[in-house]
Amino acid sequence: MKTTIAEVGKFVGQEVTIGAWLANKRSSGKIAFLQLRDGTGFIQGVVVKAEVEEEIFLKAKSITQETSIYVSGIVKEDERSPFGYELGITNIRVISESVDYPITPKEHGTEFLMDHRHLWLRSKRQHAVMKIRNEIIRSTYEFFNKEGFVKVDPPILTGSAPEGTSELFHTKYFDEDAYLSQSGQLYMEAAAMALGKVFSFGPTFRAEKSKTRRHLIEFWMIEPEMAFYEFEDNLQVQENYVSYIIKSVLENCKLELNTLGRDLSKLEKIQAPFPRITYDDAIKFLHEKGFDEIKWGDDFGAPHETAIAESYEMPVFITHYPTSLKPFYMQPDANREDVVLCADLIAPEGYGEIIGGSERIHDAELLKQRLSEHELDEAAYDWYLQLRKFGSVPHSGFGLGLERTVAWLSGVEHVRETIPFPRLLNRLYP
Ligand code: 4AD
Ligand code: MG
Repeated sequence: MKTTIAEVGKFVGQEVTIGAWLANKRSSGKIAFLQLRDGTGFIQGVVVKAEVEEEIFLKAKSITQETSIYVSGIVKEDERSPFGYELGITNIRVISESVDYPITPKEHGTEFLMDHRHLWLRSKRQHAVMKIRNEIIRSTYEFFNKEGFVKVDPPILTGSAPEGTSELFHTKYFDEDAYLSQSGQLYMEAAAMALGKVFSFGPTFRAEKSKTRRHLIEFWMIEPEMAFYEFEDNLQVQENYVSYIIKSVLENCKLELNTLGRDLSKLEKIQAPFPRITYDDAIKFLHEKGFDEIKWGDDFGAPHETAIAESYEMPVFITHYPTSLKPFYMQPDANREDVVLCADLIAPEGYGEIIGGSERIHDAELLKQRLSEHELDEAAYDWYLQLRKFGSVPHSGFGLGLERTVAWLSGVEHVRETIPFPRLLNRLYP
């Protein structure tokens, strides 16, 4: 029976054949242990010299790392293995030999691994991170479908800038100037006026010269947008959504979380509602903690975010930032012109901001005023202004950065391991 590692549990006591690669091996005069992988999972195969033909045992001993094979064997339950099964190998057929595989079981430096990202992805750790990423994406679609959202795809090639003009990737669009999307938000606002509750999931681009463990040049964002949702409604969607993906990852990625050595108790605690702190109170808090240099009107850096997050075991919303710190489209607080109805969601354990969101300005005149304050060309935003002209309504939305969320749930230090082929400052290869 031809099957996969993920499915072997259905065939205990039976002989199966699996297409696999040799991840690692250990052998003595009498027995060989082959660590096998097939993409669906990892399993140990055992070849006992006394139980197979001589030729099979010699093959098992000489087979090199990442050689592709068809391997046959009897599926056995094995309580010692985290996976729960083992293969008593009866036959090995080599498909294609692998000579001098560069990534050996010894330690390699990060730059070396990044140069070999196309192969590094095969490792057990990277496999686990990609499976967790996939589960977050899967449960995202599940959550928003259950909640009655419609998936809408905003364009990647755009003529306008939602998040400020300094970080745009410029390109030519025939004779016109165009930019790679830094956020689909403005288009999602149009979609919300057509479909009520919408979400997008796609790549976004920031030509940011940041070289931190939280920044990618190309990253993927989930951007929900809801008509008739105000500030408070928006936060509730966010805390329910984040709780949902955590629950899904805990349920469906146990093996992967264990492979990564993730402390599950930290994730199991997380449940809506999430704590909130205003920007004003966050500044006071930081002063109490000895961050004397920060003053009202300054943006928070990673150390500030981490200090705030450390006083909670949950993700925390920082709300009501100064208007001057945030993009042009955010709705001001009705009682205070100098702050906006926004929130950033800060993940625990130092993972930083995973969500940025706000209520949007729905008054045409105020929006025009903001465009001019931000020195943005009104003509390029004419279509966006029209949304405020024809039946404008309060509406809100947010963007969740996928890679930072994967990093947090997986417990990996740097976002470069959370996307198959990271685009970083000074790295466009492989
Ligand atoms: O806070 P940001 O810039 O918000 C927006 O783009 C809004 N237009 C979203 C919306 O309301 N629809 O980005 C949202 C999130 C951040 O919280 C962070 O998680 C992630 O996107 N992000 C990045 N992730 C990796 N690398 C970068 N350079 C990132 N910049 C933002
Ligand atoms: Mg932000």
